[in-house]
Amino acid sequence: MLATMVYRGIVQKGERRGTALGFPTANILLEDDSLSGIYIASTKLRGDKYDSAVFIDNYRKILEAHFLDFPPEDLYGEEIEVELLEKIREHESFEDDETLRACIKEDIQAVREYFKNTHV
Ligand SMILES: Cc1cc2nc3c(=O)[nH]c(=O)nc-3n(C[C@H](O)[C@H](O)[C@H](O)COP(=O)(O)O)c2cc1C
Repeated sequence: MLATMVYRGIVQKGERRGTALGFPTANILLEDDSLSGIYIASTKLRGDKYDSAVFIDNYRKILEAHFLDFPPEDLYGEEIEVELLEKIREHESFEDDETLRACIKEDIQAVREYFKNTHV
């Protein structure tokens, strides 16, 4: 378990790379030294919490949150609050999009498993 770690920020205009991959994300900027890697997270938006898979890119200083069960819409300008719950893995470099996509699918499965056991 992580010590509670929360990142808050305004959703930036994305480059839509995640959408192109099939996994749209809401991206916020990171200010200082932050964690890196892929995490299970709970993301608060307009007072509601959503299960999410989060990619923290320490190099680009960006946090990308993929909402598991959320209609894809433009969240640009909205404030989100991302609570990291557990680390899944480190960031990896992939040869091609197909391998990356398969890996993200596994991340999402890990998030589902986690919440299956914690939601009532
Ligand atoms: C849960 C999740 C995990 C991700 N993990 C990685 C990863 O390990 N490596 C990676 O290059 N991109 C990962 N991405 C994809 C990035 O969001 C981004 O689309 C990708 O880095 C493409 O960047 P590029 O255009 O610089 O190649 C992940 C995305 C999500 C939503």
